[in-house]
Amino acid sequence: MGLQLPILLLLLCCVSGLPFYNGFYYSNRPNGRNLDNGYSEGIFNGVKLVVETPEETLFSHRGANVTLPCRYHYEPAPASPRPVRIKWWKLSENGVPEQDVLVAIGLRQRTFGDYRGRVRLRQDRAREVSLEIWDLRLEDYGRYRCEVIDGLEDESGLVELELRGVVFPYQHPQGRYKFNFHEAQQACEEQDAVVASFEQLFRAWEEGLDWCNAGWLQDASVQYPVTQARRPCGGLGLAPGVRSYGPRHRRLHRYDVFCFAVALRGQVYYLEHPEKLTLAEAREACWEDGAQIAKVGQLFAAWKFHGLDRCDAGWLADGSARYPVAHPRSNCGALEPGVRSFGFPDPHSRKHTAASHSRSFI
Ligand SMILES: *[C@@H]1O[C@H](CO)[C@@H](O)[C@H](O)[C@H]1NC(C)=O
Repeated sequence: MGLQLPILLLLLCCVSGLPFYNGFYYSNRPNGRNLDNGYSEGIFNGVKLVVETPEETLFSHRGANVTLPCRYHYEPAPASPRPVRIKWWKLSENGVPEQDVLVAIGLRQRTFGDYRGRVRLRQDRAREVSLEIWDLRLEDYGRYRCEVIDGLEDESGLVELELRGVVFPYQHPQGRYKFNFHEAQQACEEQDAVVASFEQLFRAWEEGLDWCNAGWLQDASVQYPVTQARRPCGGLGLAPGVRSYGPRHRRLHRYDVFCFAVALRGQVYYLEHPEKLTLAEAREACWEDGAQIAKVGQLFAAWKFHGLDRCDAGWLADGSARYPVAHPRSNCGALEPGVRSFGFPDPHSRKHTAASHSRSFI
């Protein structure tokens, strides 16, 4: 009986090590001699490298500085510090390929692509290898992997970064279902936004977005969010949810689009003007006021994040006229908060003033 105990313990130790194996191998081995200093075969017998990253998603906003936390340690702790190589990269998502962000060996750091000059390793504490990103861009949201490579051992952790934003459906001035995927991407960009991802649309649906026209998403699938099943919108038999037409042909198929806009650095305001203006006059009046006529994405962001509320419609850069309602009231459109649209009125008509976007206020 006495002999069985050590065997049992040995088995438990090995089995409990298994969940830490993440199935990921780094193929590009460091070959500098310095890196392998102190490395000897078998040093990892019974020593585990553990990488810790936060489980919850980080939220930030455009233009902000953010730190993606990552720390590592050994179990049990080694007698002296061991040299490691750190690699941060962004996972492939929504058709955007995987991107290298930063590689660090000792004090040397190398940054890549759009991240050059905008990221650094943050090492305030022992074995901290967090990634600091400055001046966040719209495209920076997604999942990042923090990888620690120690000789033959490597482990990694995931950090998910989301930008606070708002999803809005966008339709061509000439009506429903006019954009192929490429035109949809351009339409969102022109509204200071990007095509929304499925996760962003799903979150918007959870927050109550209900839209009966199908729109492109970042992965070139076409979907629409329904919070209340109804007849003209897929019928009563289908449960509420985000409904998908699946992937569509990027060039041949045409739909609306769901765009994603993030909180602004400027301010959106309604131009106080004694008369109503044509679209061209509105553009000019904004310019004379030291601002620019606002884009649709900017209006949605101002409504969502700054509670912009206005009961009369203003011209926007794309030629549409809209107004944002943060506090619904009976004499001001529908009963839900939202941005209402008058569509694309005759640009020569004088029915509206303008929504302006100024960059001078932060
Ligand atoms: C971000 O960090 C940079 C460099 O430290 C600093 O100059 C800038 O003001 C920071 N931006 C914000 C929004 O805090």
